[in-house]
Amino acid sequence: TVRYLADYRPYPFVLSATRMTFDLHPTATRVRTALSMVPRDPGAPQDLVLDGGKGVELLSLTIDGQAPDTAHVSRQDETLTVAAAALPPHPFLLETAVQIDPSANTAFEGLYISNGMFCTQCEAEGFRHITFYPDRPDVMATFHVTIDSDLPVLLSNGNPVGQSQGRAEWHDPWPKPSYLFALVAGDLVAVSDSFTTRSGRRVALNVWVRPGDGDRAGFAMESLIKSMKWDEDVYGREYDLDVFNIVAVDDFNMGAMENKGLNIFNSKLVLASPETATDTDYERIEAVIAHEYFHNWTGNRITCRDWFQLCLKEGLTVFRDQQFTSDMRSAAVKRIEDVQALRSRQFREDGGPLAHPPRPDRYEEINNFYTATVYEKGAEVIGMLKRLVGDDGYRRALDLYFDRHDGDAATIEDWLKVFEDATGRDLTQFKRWYTDAGTPRLTMAEDWQAGKAGGTLTLTFTQDTPPTPGQSDKPPRVIPIAVGLIGPNGDEVAATRVLEMTEARQSFAFDGLGARPVVSALRGFSAPVMLSRPLDDATRAFLLAHDTDPFARWEAGRDLALSALTAAAQGQSADGDYIEAVGRLIADESADPAFRALCLNLPGEEEIATRLSADGTIPDPDAIHAAREALARRIAETHLDLLSGLYDVMTVAGPYRPDAADAARRSLRNAVLALLTRIDGGERAEILFGVAGNMTERMAALTALLRRGRGQTELAALRDEFADNRLVMDKWFAIQPMAAPPAQAAQIARTLSQRKDFDWKNPNRFRALLGGLSANHAGFHAADGSGYDFTADWLLRMDPVNPQIAARMSTAFETWTRYDPARRAKALGALERIASADGLSRNTREMVSRMIAAG
Ligand code: ARG
Ligand code: ZN
Repeated sequence: TVRYLADYRPYPFVLSATRMTFDLHPTATRVRTALSMVPRDPGAPQDLVLDGGKGVELLSLTIDGQAPDTAHVSRQDETLTVAAAALPPHPFLLETAVQIDPSANTAFEGLYISNGMFCTQCEAEGFRHITFYPDRPDVMATFHVTIDSDLPVLLSNGNPVGQSQGRAEWHDPWPKPSYLFALVAGDLVAVSDSFTTRSGRRVALNVWVRPGDGDRAGFAMESLIKSMKWDEDVYGREYDLDVFNIVAVDDFNMGAMENKGLNIFNSKLVLASPETATDTDYERIEAVIAHEYFHNWTGNRITCRDWFQLCLKEGLTVFRDQQFTSDMRSAAVKRIEDVQALRSRQFREDGGPLAHPPRPDRYEEINNFYTATVYEKGAEVIGMLKRLVGDDGYRRALDLYFDRHDGDAATIEDWLKVFEDATGRDLTQFKRWYTDAGTPRLTMAEDWQAGKAGGTLTLTFTQDTPPTPGQSDKPPRVIPIAVGLIGPNGDEVAATRVLEMTEARQSFAFDGLGARPVVSALRGFSAPVMLSRPLDDATRAFLLAHDTDPFARWEAGRDLALSALTAAAQGQSADGDYIEAVGRLIADESADPAFRALCLNLPGEEEIATRLSADGTIPDPDAIHAAREALARRIAETHLDLLSGLYDVMTVAGPYRPDAADAARRSLRNAVLALLTRIDGGERAEILFGVAGNMTERMAALTALLRRGRGQTELAALRDEFADNRLVMDKWFAIQPMAAPPAQAAQIARTLSQRKDFDWKNPNRFRALLGGLSANHAGFHAADGSGYDFTADWLLRMDPVNPQIAARMSTAFETWTRYDPARRAKALGALERIASADGLSRNTREMVSRMIAAG
């Protein structure tokens, strides 16, 4: 069944307080729940419908202590209904007792067991697998939770109010929806610290991990403390309980979850040591710890009215964690990384069969909508709002938002209204960014008129958004276009100005100019659009050398690389300008090493395919792979001496530190290594793997070796050293199909999947192997269909066990329609094989049928 935004109705009862008692047992956990209910309209009695999954067995139900007539209580597949006739027209207490089996819960939604530890995941609709409840975000209550268990550590939301042998009681005074509920019970140890908020509340902080992992939790704690301080300094938001707990769990469907006062994390986003985690892992841990912490205000204190509004909390919280990372590290580098991620994941989604707006208006399975569009495009939309209303306007709007909506379950309309009220701006047209899917194509044309009082440059833009599933007509949007002008001698002659485009076609003039300038357009990637402009490679090289905006400067280099690569992938050659520009960049010691690394990393094969297909060319995965390899080799050959010198100069001395400065040098050195390996056959990589004490360099070295068809000794060494470390073994499984020569990738993945230690029910391990293969563009899209077949086999195996993971990984197929007829036929065959499986989950069915429909 499809759910529609337009069908929203408030719940007919107000739930003021929830009390629960858990009697934990691996196969037979008993849950007693008492709900204080108030009919919204006592004059119009309504049935009381509670959500409850198939695994929830009802033991008893009473209303004000009395069991109702059994005829008035009925069980449906996913609900339990108490007829209006059995309900009093005044406040009443509804009590239930149920039994559930956490050990049988392989979907990791609701209460489950991971490595002997009880834990929960309730967003979006997991709570209904724990007990019968109005499991929707606009029903908010205080929670009082009692946990009975012999396990040593018993945690839930809020503040601890009672601890005795075998029992713990928790009270959460902040009304919350069920999706923010959490419970953890197990044998855990804490890394502890404290934080005093600016109004003087002393908060106890704990990061809970398995015994033995304590020495890898320190960085997570540091990140938490930085996040708490930052949210006070930048948004004026303080924490509001006496304790803040974080728990690391090995079996977790996503990254992490912002349960009130009890964040639960995938252990890969908590545990880090130099020997086991890469610089990228450290940066992600810092960002996700911040993200979940920031949800305390944007998500928990102000939550969503319904799941259609998911981007209200996710887009805003991603935007906030991006700001945080820019402040902690390099803002320029962070912006470029975010744009790269947006293009490779969100543009890909927006241009294919799974396209949907940041605020969808229909879904079958909400778990399928935790997407790059809801999260990352949701954040981009907020970035545009901020650019349009300015920093002060943004600050005033956010203050008003927290003021007006604290305690609410709010909507995108509420969010836009605070911006309108705080700034006086009409956001009617802007709202289309929330309701319309698809990536606008923006073109820019220039007209130069020399004149006596100085020349005039006129920029004419047109915008157009291709149709997406269910949305054929796309009216023009408001597009903030940040533009600067660079004079012929390389100096900036006009600082950044934001042009506000509102029409399908619109011109903007700059006058009083001495000589014709070069336009630096879409600075800072001021809108999530695809810009095309007629620009020759020489001008791109000029911008790469002179642009003052770091994003636009990087983009110029990117465009140069893409123009060389797309030409080569279509059998032409034109890479002189790019190779020359790269040479200047390698030699430019004044530029940030991280920036130089970003410029040296060639566009990925997926990105090249996306660009070709947006320009109407059918991408050939093998030709793209060959073109990219050849270009990398030519760069290495041309600049061999410079690169070798740089490789030595960028060596990081002293003990490993995960900070931005050292990570930047390692990233540049590793980018250089990737190029040099094409010439030295792997000599440097082999040495580096042997001497590196940190995982960042070992992974870089191993990737380089595998790409050259070497690295077997190193793989074996890594396995021997880390066989007991799940997180390192995940990397070991991922890197092999990812860095394999494309023709062998699917076979390598299949062989790995037959190993005893391919613990596929663990989401990280499954994602490592299947994700590793699909990250190998030419390998996944191998012409013989081996990548498609392998992936389909495993999606079918995973679906009955963990539908969320199967559905998520099915997105490997989301671009299938853009390839040649032979590949399309094979991909469609794989999708149809999945679709025809008996008992396919709602999750996977929705995804696969949307993808097939596009064929
Ligand atoms: N709210 C969590 C976060 O963004 C993610 C929860 C994802 N849930 C899901 N069912 N996919 O941090
Ligand atoms: Zn989030």
